[in-house]
Amino acid sequence: MYRISLFVVLISRVAVALDNGLALKPTMGWLHWERFMCNTDCDADPQNCISENLYMQMADMMVKEGWKEAGYEYVCIDDCWLSHQRDAKGRLQADPKRFPGGIKKLADYVHSKGLKLGIYGDVGKTTCAGYPASLGYYETDAQTFADWDVDLLKFDGCYMDWTLVAEGYVNMSKALNKTGKSILYSCEWPLYVWPFHQPNYTAIRETCNHWRNFADVYDSWSSVKTILEWTAAHQDIIVPSAGPGGWNDPDMLVIGNFGLSHDQQESQMALWAIMAAPLLMSNDLRDICPRSKGLLQNKRIIAISQDDHGRQGYRTAKVDSFEVWERPLSKNRLAVAVLNKQEIGGRRAFAVSSVPGWKICDPKCNVTQILPQYKELGVQTLQSKMAVLVNPSGTALLTVTPLTSVRRIHHLHWQDTSIKDKHATVL
Ligand SMILES: *[C@@H]1O[C@H](CO)[C@@H](O)[C@H](O)[C@H]1NC(C)=O
Ligand SMILES: *[C@@H]1O[C@H](CO)[C@@H](O)[C@H](O)[C@H]1NC(C)=O
Ligand SMILES: *[C@@H]1O[C@H](CO)[C@@H](O)[C@H](O)[C@H]1NC(C)=O
Repeated sequence: MYRISLFVVLISRVAVALDNGLALKPTMGWLHWERFMCNTDCDADPQNCISENLYMQMADMMVKEGWKEAGYEYVCIDDCWLSHQRDAKGRLQADPKRFPGGIKKLADYVHSKGLKLGIYGDVGKTTCAGYPASLGYYETDAQTFADWDVDLLKFDGCYMDWTLVAEGYVNMSKALNKTGKSILYSCEWPLYVWPFHQPNYTAIRETCNHWRNFADVYDSWSSVKTILEWTAAHQDIIVPSAGPGGWNDPDMLVIGNFGLSHDQQESQMALWAIMAAPLLMSNDLRDICPRSKGLLQNKRIIAISQDDHGRQGYRTAKVDSFEVWERPLSKNRLAVAVLNKQEIGGRRAFAVSSVPGWKICDPKCNVTQILPQYKELGVQTLQSKMAVLVNPSGTALLTVTPLTSVRRIHHLHWQDTSIKDKHATVL
């Protein structure tokens, strides 16, 4: 009975993804918004303004500094790249002063580095910053992006009648498909619908490669915490919709900027990997501290993010101002993140062997600690009293590998544990 019900749940949760062959793993790259925003003043601030130079320099850095090798692939433009006027044929055009070569030439440059170019548009009348947007022009704009050889479209939802948001996103998805070029489609559909009703995640997964659910990330710990809290509070609704081809997007990584302590940066990186989130950094790759760089390029964390099993993790317990998040990985492995939410005092111990997924340690498992530092913790059993030490607002990240081929299906299932989460106070 157990196996049968699990089977039914597995079938029903794997909703059909947008069939454009893209985002089979969470997207990795760089996106300008959080760090560079709508800085268009290239006279006063030529190094940081939204111009073709910025993306060319980021592409150069991505190759030179190991980002591309680590898996970061997309260099993405956000709002404020546009001219305020469409051209004589009604097509969007880049601001001629800031993008003298035009987007096609920029795409060619980025491709010459073995990277991909992302661009930004909006489903409504104007973009959030007031530039021309795509309502009434979906086919024209999709074709323009395809003609420019753009690889990803972030499609915002400002200045759109909310009752038409779903239709607009679907129409643009069809328009992109019609171009015949696979363009990764990053939506904000649920974000703009949540204030009115629960979005249809089956339809969203059929339409988009990833989708923003919640407000923009800021360069602050309170912002990161709010995103995590929203995600955990809605995990029963959103987690089942994530999988190869389509992902929940909790917004950019702000690691390497000004607002997060190193422990908090580790928490963002660990939890974004657990959430199978797109890893889109927004920082200045020309000027980033080596520790942040090492964290963003940590191969073991990236391996969790990009795991073949393609499942999003979720919060499984809240105990004593700790949060436990778990993500089922390929080969019956498990990733466990323990976040210390007590923002006073020093580091505290948490008995990781009490987490729900520890049942894969029956009879034995092997444990590797990835954060705060790499350590082989060796063979453990169901009875082990293993603990990890976690700094305030920091995270311990582990992978747990079962050591015997047990025939039972050991996989932690999100529905089982989310129900446990609601009832559990002490594990
Ligand atoms: C367009 O959609 C069809 C049907 O879903 C799919 O087979 C095809 O690969 C898509 N093409 C592109 C370019 O996304
Ligand atoms: C979407 O496309 C349909 C069919 O062409 C059209 O009737 C509808 O008005 C479009 N909606 C939007 C928001 O563009
Ligand atoms: C959600 O979208 C799916 C796929 O487009 C559709 O079949 C289903 O009827 C929709 N559900 C609701 C409640 O509208």
